[in-house]
Amino acid sequence: MRIDILSVVPELLASPFEASILKRAQDAKRVEVHVHNIRDYSTNNYKQVDDYPYGGGAGMVLMIEPIAKCIESLKADRKYDAILYMTPDGQQLNQSIANRFSLLNNIIILCGHYKGVDQRVRDLFVTHEISVGDYVLSGGELAAAVFSDAIIRLIPGVLGNETSALTDSFQDNLLAPPIYTRPADYNGHKVPDILTSGNTPKVEEWREQQAVERTKKLRPDLL
Ligand code: ADE
Repeated sequence: MRIDILSVVPELLASPFEASILKRAQDAKRVEVHVHNIRDYSTNNYKQVDDYPYGGGAGMVLMIEPIAKCIESLKADRKYDAILYMTPDGQQLNQSIANRFSLLNNIIILCGHYKGVDQRVRDLFVTHEISVGDYVLSGGELAAAVFSDAIIRLIPGVLGNETSALTDSFQDNLLAPPIYTRPADYNGHKVPDILTSGNTPKVEEWREQQAVERTKKLRPDLL
């Protein structure tokens, strides 16, 4: 998979891709992440990327020309399966959306900033609008990092143990069961006996039952 991320604050997208699973995925050539500074595509001498909104009002709006130029130059080199715009008024991200996008080959993610992008960018270029929740971030960069993490970890071969993404919370509309590691007894707080019994089928049964109970209690809407 190749992900091209367009931003006016590319610095915000550096560290999430430089450590842990997202770095390993790139090192293993499972994914290429390219961050583009929209300012590099500015069409005027001042490297301007934003301007005042027509009709007045607070805040600045990202202009269409630099974004269009950047997208067109990427599209000249390869075909894109989706052009996403991160925005609080988009479709709310969930595991099934992440699963779907993890299967694509080439995607562009556009990050808004200030008041957002000129509506014509959304009308002419964007194929999907995604939100990471009902709250407003300063820009789409952190949302793009969240989205990228959610899909990259699902690409086959990215997680060491192939089954570990399948047992994540939400994969079967259930929250994950509780997990424990050593010590088996922490100041009298013991690990459930079943987990140290060595009886794998019983452990699986217990985990399933715990997952259902936890979901009923914490997220009954998922059931
Ligand atoms: N940009 C600003 N807030 C956002 C949100 N909640 N989701 C996606 N992009 C955003």
